[in-house]
Order: sequence, then C-alpha cells, then structure tokens
Amino acid sequence: MIETLINIAFCVSSVLTLLIFLLPSQYDPRSAPSGESSSRPKTSVQILVLGDIGHSPRMQYHALSIARNGGEVAIIGYADSDPHPDILSHPNISIVPIRPHPAILQTSNKLLFILYGPLKVLFQIVCLWRCLAYTTSPSRWLLVQNPPSIPCLAVASLSCFLRQTRLVIDWHNFGYSILALKLSASHPLVKLALQYEKIFCKSATAHFCVTDAMRSVLKQDFKLQAPILPLHDRPASHFSPIMDPDARIKFLTQLPEAKPMRAALESGEMRVLVSSTSWTPDEDFSVLIEALLQYSALATSQSNLPEILAIITGKGPQKEMYLEKIRILEAAGKLEKVTIRTAWLSVSDYAKLLASASLGVSLHTSSSGVDLPMKVVDMFGAGLPVVGWDRFKAWPELVTEGVNGMGFGSSNELSEQLVQLFGDDKKLEALREGAQKESSRRWDDEWDPIAGKLLGLT
Ligand SMILES: *[C@@H]1O[C@H](CO)[C@@H](O)[C@H](O)[C@H]1NC(C)=O
Repeated sequence: MIETLINIAFCVSSVLTLLIFLLPSQYDPRSAPSGESSSRPKTSVQILVLGDIGHSPRMQYHALSIARNGGEVAIIGYADSDPHPDILSHPNISIVPIRPHPAILQTSNKLLFILYGPLKVLFQIVCLWRCLAYTTSPSRWLLVQNPPSIPCLAVASLSCFLRQTRLVIDWHNFGYSILALKLSASHPLVKLALQYEKIFCKSATAHFCVTDAMRSVLKQDFKLQAPILPLHDRPASHFSPIMDPDARIKFLTQLPEAKPMRAALESGEMRVLVSSTSWTPDEDFSVLIEALLQYSALATSQSNLPEILAIITGKGPQKEMYLEKIRILEAAGKLEKVTIRTAWLSVSDYAKLLASASLGVSLHTSSSGVDLPMKVVDMFGAGLPVVGWDRFKAWPELVTEGVNGMGFGSSNELSEQLVQLFGDDKKLEALREGAQKESSRRWDDEWDPIAGKLLGLT
C-alpha cells in the first residue's frame, strides 16, 4: 500500500519536474534593455501572423516602425513569399518561419473542411507553440494579427501568461465573420468561434484596430476593458503619385499587357482602369464584368467615351472561372470597347501601375462591415481615385464621396460612374487631386503617436 503511494508520488513529482523544465523561459524586466545609456534595443516585440508574412503588409509596417524607433523585432509567420526588402535587410528584425501544414489539409470542400479543420488546427497549435514559447527568446510585447484567431489567440494568451509578455491584438477584422463566409452566419461553429474570440481577446493589454467603427464594435459587443486604439491603414512609402501625365503614359505603354494598345493610350482614346482582387466569393468580380459590358455597349454609340483597358492583378481560386467567362464574352463581341487583361507585377511595378492608371476599382465587400480594403489605401497612396463597393459601415472612414472617390452598390451604379468619370476629364481630374491630397497622409504619422507611444518607443 505504502509502496504504491510512494510510486505514485514519485511519478507525479517527476512529471511536475519535467513540466517545470519544459516551461518556456520568462521575460525578465531587470535584464531588459534600459534605453538611452546602453546600445541595447529599447524594447522587444514578437509579431505573430498566421499567414504569409510577405502578404501581410500591415504587420510588416509594424515591424519596420518598431525597428526604426529602436526596438527589436521577431516576426513569426509563414515564409511563402519574399517579405519587404527593408525587412530582410534590417539587422534588428528577424524572421521566424512557422512550419506550413501539409498541403493535403487545405481544402475548399465544406465537408472536408469540417473534417480536416481540427487536424490542421492541431498541427498549427504545435508549430505555433514551439515558435512562440521556445524558438524565440522572451520579449516584452507580443503583437498578434487577428484574424485568423484560431488557434492564434489561445496559444498567444497562454504563451504570454507563462512568459510574462504583454499581449497586443491588432484587429484587421473578426475571425468569426470570416468563418461565417465559409459556413454560414448561423452555423454552430461560427457561434463557437465568436465565443472563443470574445474570451481570449480579454487577455490582451491593449488592442489596435483598423477603423473607428471596429473600435465601437469591440467596445460594445466584445465588452473590452483594455485600451482600444484605432490605427488606420496607410500606404507604404513605395506608393507615391506620378505627377507628370506623360510619365504615366510612358510607364503604361511599356507594360507587356498594354504594349499592343500603345497608340490608343498615347492619344487618350483608351484609359486604364485597375483593380486588384483576391478572386474569392466575397469579392464579386461579376459586378465589374457586368459594368464593363454595359459601358462597352454605351461606348459603341457615344463617341466621347474612351475605350477601357482593365488591368486586373491578384491571384485566387475563382480566377480561371472568370477568365473563361471573359473569353466567352470577348468571342461574342460583347466587349468591343473594353479590353480585360490580368497581370502579375512586382511590388514596385504594381505601385507604378496604380500611380499611372486613370481609375481604381475596389470590389471588397466587408464581412464584418467594419474593416477596410488595404488596396484602396494603396491606391490613394499612389494618388489614384477610387470607385468601390460602399455598402458597409466603415466605407466613409476611407473614401470621401465625390472628393477622392465614389461608392457604388450595384453594377448599374458602377457603369454609370465609369460613364460619368471617363466621359468627363474634369470630373476625373478633380478626383485625382483629392486622391493625391490623401496620399500625403502616411503610416508613420499614424503609427508613431499611437503605437509607438503604447510600446514605449516614441
Ligand atoms: C539595432 O539595435 C541596436 C541595439 O540593439 C542599435 O544600436 C542599432 O542602431 C540598431 N540598428 C538599426 C539599423 O537600427
């Protein structure tokens, strides 16, 4: 009897000892960099994004801002594409790649999604935990992008608790509302995801979010007590206007997609419209196609309307389906005055394309109503006026109607706007001026007084 007890006690204590040894190391404020006198960094920040780092511009800007202000950064995320060159070259920013989950677990099939989902999450938990708790050294702050919230928020909360790290959540949107697009708003998993999000976000010291509208949702529906600081997206420095109209035409005519139309572009008989899409169901590309069809029909009879070259950038699941649709319409002669081309451009060429085009189109339909499309921010950075889907709450925080852009709610409205703007140079030029004004508002101006202050850097 006693022997059994001793055995049990021994086992329990071994397990506990093992656990204590396995605990991640803690952040120790005493060994922390003390700022001015030493050459050590002013603070240390882990940035977590459960997505491709190269395709997470906002988290990259956070990293660059922190490093620029004297902090040390470790970005934890998938290393699928090349991040911003300044990130790679900065000595105080390191990248900690997360192991990608096996490709077989990625599916768009609803049934398989429910089956594979848990497996994928399990795999992610293990990889995330390793990166957050062991691979990286303990830091003062952990800045997490949300969504995805599963499993990030839970793993981050636990790791922050054990490592004495302060958690900050950067809300780009809500995890549950994105899931609702895939399943449905009333699906039990969506409700569960909402509860999960509400519980784990409470462990954060502070929150950033992308709009004022999102802040009020976080305050009212999520009942957050910690400070919620709106931090509007701003274009990166490589997005800037090209003021000289000739330089704009010159850039356009050397693009392989536009070369054959060179003469029409130079004479002004053809204008360039640009749209970047993720080719997903939440960006209904058929709205743009329908509007272009209507425009083409009108332009055949109205001689003041220029032809349109629509350059579409972006990769995504529905791309092939729409390209096929476009081919059929072209063959049927329904796109006589409109040419649609897709392009895959380098970061700097994309920025120049935005600065050189005549009009940008955003089809982003917000899943939560309170997030904003980053691509519109970039278009403004390049001084490009924008027409966009505007039937969501936060839209006016981004676009001032008639000043730097216009909002539409249907393909009819979009085609009317195309006719209005392309049919009247003055109107388009006025919007361009508005967009160029918008371009002077930059990320650092927004970041330094809000995020820099919170992190103790500015
Ligand atoms: C990197 O951090 C060190 C302090 O750890 C600092 O002295 C140095 O200036 C930083 N480098 C850059 C390029 O900011």
